[in-house]
Amino acid sequence: MKPTLHEALQIDIKRINREIENIVKYDKDVPRTSVLSHSVLQLIRSGGKRLRPLLVIVGSRFGTAKTGSRFGTAKTGRRQLQLAAAAEFIHAASLIHDDIIDRSDLRRGAPSLHTQTGVAEAVHIGNYMSARVVELLSDFTSDHDRFVHDLSSLATAQLCIGEYEQLQHAFDYDLTLKQYLEKTRCKTAQLMATCLRVGALSTDARPEVADALYRFGESLGMAFQIEDDILDFTATAEMIGKPAGSDLRRGQVTLPVLYALSDPVLAPRIRAIHANSSEEEIEYALQGICVGDALARSQQMRMDYLQQAMQAIELLRGHPAYGQLEVLHQYFGGKTA
Ligand code: FPP
Ligand code: MG
Repeated sequence: MKPTLHEALQIDIKRINREIENIVKYDKDVPRTSVLSHSVLQLIRSGGKRLRPLLVIVGSRFGTAKTGSRFGTAKTGRRQLQLAAAAEFIHAASLIHDDIIDRSDLRRGAPSLHTQTGVAEAVHIGNYMSARVVELLSDFTSDHDRFVHDLSSLATAQLCIGEYEQLQHAFDYDLTLKQYLEKTRCKTAQLMATCLRVGALSTDARPEVADALYRFGESLGMAFQIEDDILDFTATAEMIGKPAGSDLRRGQVTLPVLYALSDPVLAPRIRAIHANSSEEEIEYALQGICVGDALARSQQMRMDYLQQAMQAIELLRGHPAYGQLEVLHQYFGGKTA
């Protein structure tokens, strides 16, 4: 059987999961029996690939701290696990808010948090989770490792800016490619890039190594979001755990939509879509996008980012942990539907 990503990377996922749960379990201000604690634990246990924590751990394997691990570099210590857990907490918090904003009742095929707790409660839970990360990281940060704040402040602020931009441009069919790429970098790529970089710096990686990993993560993140945008047109609801075609329905001008807008026949069909469009109008536009070349062009852009990712890590060839980056690259480059 094909190994899972964490198996291929030789990362003990149980240690990561335990550390994620510890963030709420050991919060002295939140009683273990409280609804808040219960909701966060339930959310964390509901699944997820733990992609961002895995990126932190892979990054940490490029440090210079000699601890005799089999990668010839740094060992995964408690600190790396805490950073990995913090990354997942930020991501999980952002998805709670994302599902509320997107009015998405399903996440990974199961009811999203706000449908279970109510919207106001879910907003508070998401806020608590992102604030708790700031508290956790401040607790163990000295002047020497101020970079860990990149996770809780910089990358999180960028997430919010990216989402805000997306909302501002809903049903904006004049969105430029540059604006789309910038929004995508903010909402998805920068957190992934930061995970690799923070992991690397936590084990004293050289700055140029950490920067190469950042660029690698950024390109992988761009490819990842473009794939997500393509899947909205090509996958079934069962495959993506939410209704297909929802981006177009919500006025999201994703990469396939942008390319389709450059087709003079298709453009009026797409531009006609507004918040109260009928299912027939949406289906008509969806079909047009699927039969034209917009998906193939988006796929090409995704491949370009995957290629850029490999170029970014050229200088790391020969490093004992280089193979881990190849595993990640293969995973992100896996075929879409
Ligand atoms: C998924 O996008 C969502 C994101 C990548 C980021 C969401 C960020 C926020 C809502 C800002 C709030 C952040 C915090 C930390 C509280 P998508 O809708 O394209 O993907 P999906 O298909 O998984 O829903
Ligand atoms: Mg969403």
